[in-house]
Amino acid sequence: MNFDFTEEQLMIQQTAREFAQSEIAPTAVKRDIEAKFPDEIVKKLGELGFLGMMVSPEYDGAGLDTISYVLAMIEISKVDASLGVIMSVNNSLVCYGLEKWGSDFMKEKYLKPLARGEKLGAFALSEPEAGSDATRQQTSAYKDGNHWVINGMKNWITNGTSADYFLVVTQTDKEKAHHGITTFLVEKGTPGFGHGVKEDKLGIRGSDTCSLTFENCRVPEENIVWEVGKGFNFAMNTLNGGRIGIASQALGIAEGALDAATKYAKTRKAFGTEIANHQAIQFKLADMATKIEAAKLLTLQAAALKDAHKKYVKESAMAKLYASKIAVECALEAVQIHGGYGYVREYLVERYMRDAKITEIYEGTSEIQRIVIARELLKD
Ligand code: CAA
Repeated sequence: MNFDFTEEQLMIQQTAREFAQSEIAPTAVKRDIEAKFPDEIVKKLGELGFLGMMVSPEYDGAGLDTISYVLAMIEISKVDASLGVIMSVNNSLVCYGLEKWGSDFMKEKYLKPLARGEKLGAFALSEPEAGSDATRQQTSAYKDGNHWVINGMKNWITNGTSADYFLVVTQTDKEKAHHGITTFLVEKGTPGFGHGVKEDKLGIRGSDTCSLTFENCRVPEENIVWEVGKGFNFAMNTLNGGRIGIASQALGIAEGALDAATKYAKTRKAFGTEIANHQAIQFKLADMATKIEAAKLLTLQAAALKDAHKKYVKESAMAKLYASKIAVECALEAVQIHGGYGYVREYLVERYMRDAKITEIYEGTSEIQRIVIARELLKD
C-alpha cells in the first residue's frame, strides 16, 4: 500500500495542525480542569468543514477521503482528545451512518446541517445492561399510527448534552432478537426525551458524556434509519468506521505524549547531562516512536480499504485495538520520563495518560475488537 499523501491530504493535515495549535491548545488545560464542553471551538471546526469531512458535497460535506480524516483527527487529538471524540462521533458514526443508510428525506433535513457543522450528532447504542453485549437492547419502541413510541434509557452517550440529533437504537420486536432492532433519529427537545447529568470522567473531560431517557417519546416513522429490523446491522456497520476514528484519536494522544517526552528529555538534566543522552530514556523514546509508526500504518491501511470500498472490518478493529494499547503505553512512558513533573497538571502528560484509557473502552473494548478480529479470521 502506498501512503504518499496527496497535496490535498497534506493541506488538510496542515490546516488541522495550525487550527489545533492556535485555537485549541491555549484553552485545553482549562477545559480539562473545568470539564467544559468546547462549544465555540466545535462551531469553528464546523466552519472549517471538519464535522462533515467525508460527506459528499451534495449533502454539504467536505467530500474528503478517510485518509484525510485520519490525518486531521490525529492533529486535533494530539492537542485535545476531547475534541477528537466530539469530531469522531459526528463524522464517523452520525454523518457516515446517515449518508450511507438514511433516506433522502433524512439526508436533506438532518445530514446537511450536521455536515455543515450547524448541528451536532450523537450515537446512542449503549445501555446500563447492554454495553459490550450490544444485542441485549432494553430500550423499546412500538408503532402507534404513523409514529413510534420509545421508552428506555441509554448510557455513556458522547455529545449527550450538546447534540441536536441522536441516533437511537431500540428493540422493536423482541421475538426476532437482533433482527428486531431498529434505529431512529430523535431530535433534541422531542417531548419525553431527556438526559441525565454529565458524567464526571477520568479523562476526555471536555467532552460531555451522559445518559439519555425516553418516556413515551413519539418519533415520526420517517425518522427510521435504514429500515425496521436493521438497527443492529446499522450500528455494527457504522462502528466499523467509527473504530478508524478512535484509532486516530489514540494515535494523536500517543504522538502528543512522544512529542512532550522528547522535548522534556532534551532539556531536563540528570547525572550531569540532558536525560535524552541516557540510553534508559532513548530506548523508551525509540519504543514509543516504533509503536506509533506501526499503529499509524494499521490505521491508514483500514482507511485506505474503506476509501477503496473494500472490506475493512478486521483491519479497523486491529487499528483500534493496537492504537489504543500503544496510546496507553506511550502516555505512561511519557509520565515516567517526566518523573515527578509528569504527575502534576502543569505538564501535559498526565492528561494524555487519563485521556488514553478511554480509547481501549469505547466504540468496542479491546476484548470486543479481539472477538471481531478472530471471527473475521475464522471466516476466511
Ligand atoms: N460489522 C458488521 N456486522 C457485524 C459486525 C461488524 N463488525 N459484528 C457483528 N455484526 C453482525 C453480524 O454479522 C450479525 O448480523 P446478521 O445476523 O444479520 O448476519 C449481527 O451483527 C450479530 O452478530 P453476532 O451474532 O456476532 O452477535 P454477538 O452478540 O455474538 O456479538 C458483538 C456482537 C460483535 C460482540 C457486538 O455486540 C459488538 O460489537 N459489541 C460492542 C458494541 C460497541 O462497540 N459499543 C460501542 C458503543 S458506541 C460508542 O462508544 C460511541 C461513543 O459515544 C464514543
